[in-house]
Amino acid sequence: MNNKLIDLKNITKAYGNNVVLDDLNLYIRENEFLTLLGPSGCGKTTTLRIMGGFEIPDKGQVIFDGKDITKLPPNKRQLNTVFQKYALFTHMTIAENIAFGLKIKKKSKAYIDDKIKYALKLVNLDGFENRYPDSLSGGQQQRIAIARAIVNEPKVLLLDEPLGALDLKLRQDMQYELIRLKNELGITFVYVTHDQEEALTMSDTIVVMNQGYIQQIGSPEKIYNEPENAFVADFIGESNIIPATMIEDRLVNILGVKFPCVDEGFGNNKPVDVVIRPEDIDLLEPGQGRIDGVVTNLIFKGVHYEMEVMANGYEWLVHSTDMFPVGKNVSISVDPFDIQIMNKPESEDEQAVTIDE
Ligand SMILES: Nc1ncnc2c1ncn2[C@@H]1O[C@H](COP(=O)(O)OP(=O)(O)OP(=O)(O)O)[C@@H](O)[C@H]1O
Ligand SMILES: [Mg+2]
Repeated sequence: MNNKLIDLKNITKAYGNNVVLDDLNLYIRENEFLTLLGPSGCGKTTTLRIMGGFEIPDKGQVIFDGKDITKLPPNKRQLNTVFQKYALFTHMTIAENIAFGLKIKKKSKAYIDDKIKYALKLVNLDGFENRYPDSLSGGQQQRIAIARAIVNEPKVLLLDEPLGALDLKLRQDMQYELIRLKNELGITFVYVTHDQEEALTMSDTIVVMNQGYIQQIGSPEKIYNEPENAFVADFIGESNIIPATMIEDRLVNILGVKFPCVDEGFGNNKPVDVVIRPEDIDLLEPGQGRIDGVVTNLIFKGVHYEMEVMANGYEWLVHSTDMFPVGKNVSISVDPFDIQIMNKPESEDEQAVTIDE
């Protein structure tokens, strides 16, 4: 694994009495695509602004490549930021927008012209040099904002919800484009979003935040399949989160019924939460699964059907390519591997951190 490029150590930041980040610790490796994911107001932008040098933390240090840069101004950092609201200069052409940072650095005209061509090609907007921002679509403007950041050859690109304003199709195109840029340029990306699907698609590492605390750090697979607590499970996609009791290793009591599972080390007769993804539930004929119930709701979702099944007092969410009509008696079956056991959180915003090495 690559070295730590950015290391945030014990970062605390408050605005007045509002403690936005409380002793946050996080590092980003060279060439990593790391995503900060969390609900509105959880401190994502603040974290990014501290990395970029637009805010100074009240406590803690920002280390870049082994050096303390906590108080270094933005323009002295090897980072470039694309902000939540893209800000192109409307009175300048696209070429002038992209050239802006390079002119300040007093680069030669030949160098700048070369860079503009290269950057426009990279974001698939060749030939847009002489257009003005107003004549571009939202997605095109956003790509120009990214091109403008890239020509400065930053070691790190900080992107704050860069696709937030775009429609679904364009957002997906841009997601692929950003992944391609990352692979072609070999730069490190720190990406902010509150869209879990976007985070799962693009990231090497996802950092799930809530109320200024890191809830979990891990690969998309790990975060999705093995959420550490109910907040992460709930935030990352739809799931059944059910209070349960761990009877012993590899056996859990869910709604009064014993389910074999694969987790160990939670203790005996311990209250826990279980997460079961809707796509991991199999519906069988009554009596053939573990809990019998009845379908109470059915929605066609395109790729799959979404059913709600009332069983043992809980409304189970089920996704399946098979359709089970409302009123049908069914039986719920779950593979032991698909039952994820979580400790009960001590509080809503507890800090539960694991790091995959
Ligand atoms: N300059 C500021 N002055 C006062 N409060 C601020 C300032 N900047 C941010 N905050 C507060 O800090 C908290 C975190 O804000 P931040 O912008 O980091 O959230 P976010 O996770 O980026 O949210 P969003 O998804 O809505 O962009 C919020 O409660 C916000 O109101
Ligand atoms: Mg924000």
